[in-house]
Amino acid sequence: MMVRLNPLRFVLMLAIVVETLIILVLLSGRDFRIEEAKCPSGRRRNKKDLPILYIITPTYYRNTQKADMTRLSQTLRNVDNVHWIVVEDANSTSERVHSILERSGLPYTHLAAATPEEYRERKLMGRGVFNRRRGLQWLREEADDGVLYFADDDNTYDLRIFEQIRYTKRVSVFPVGMILSLGISSPIVRHDKVIGFHDAFQAGRKFALDMAGFAVNLRLLHSNPKADIPLQVSYLENGFLKALDIELEDLEPVADKCTQVLVWHTRTQRPATPDIKAVSKEYLDTNLILLYKHELA
Ligand code: UGA
Ligand code: MN
Repeated sequence: MMVRLNPLRFVLMLAIVVETLIILVLLSGRDFRIEEAKCPSGRRRNKKDLPILYIITPTYYRNTQKADMTRLSQTLRNVDNVHWIVVEDANSTSERVHSILERSGLPYTHLAAATPEEYRERKLMGRGVFNRRRGLQWLREEADDGVLYFADDDNTYDLRIFEQIRYTKRVSVFPVGMILSLGISSPIVRHDKVIGFHDAFQAGRKFALDMAGFAVNLRLLHSNPKADIPLQVSYLENGFLKALDIELEDLEPVADKCTQVLVWHTRTQRPATPDIKAVSKEYLDTNLILLYKHELA
């Protein structure tokens, strides 16, 4: 028997079907968000096919190092497919940094490369040069594909920046907050292309960027085997990027086309260094002794 559908009923049924579909789509979206929120570390599974992020962090001993490195390690725990290359500015690796790396649960490489004594006193010497160079050398020897990012130990990173730089084809660039007198340093983007840099320190730099404001595809590193970090303070980024033989038009603006600050050049204020002598004799049998010992380790 043929059922004749009257047009009104047909429209009504169609509306119900469409509405059901919309509700289903919305619900699946909600489920997805709940799933993300349920996973407090933010770690998602089965993401091994993502390009690897190689993060080079130069670090050195001072009384804020543990706090800075702990914060960075716990930021990176929330990033998928990341390999952390930590290079101490010292003659050998330290237990202090090693234990932070171990606790992080991240895949890591722990190296040491000291600034030679004769360079230490130089007035115009950049910081973290020799240890970053050591990190680059490791990458050249050990890694094929992926993306390099220099993450100083004291900056503050929004997790979204890692997902945006992961797909860097050559060099991605993005704004950095809390920089110099402008309080911000950013590529200038017009019609999706980088046309210059909004940065308080131009000084003839072709790439007026902070170290935290760019990421590089390893292919580019491998095809420019001599590219390295120069010595002169304030010219590290410019020197390295120039050595990679790229032009302004090769730069890929990320962080929503450079409209968002997703990394800040924070600097940790130096507190007093704890000194066991400050504990008065009457408390020598208390927790304070171990507390100082642990913190100073
Ligand atoms: C600014 C830039 O953001 C740095 O990337 C750049 O290396 C530096 O200037 C410079 O050109 O000298 P700023 O905050 O002034 O950074 O420097 P720091 O945060 O003190 O040092 C940058 C990185 O190098 C840090 O990860 C730090 O741990 C490391 N570092 C610093 C060393 O490995 N050895 C040192 O003696 C000092
Ligand atoms: Mn810093």
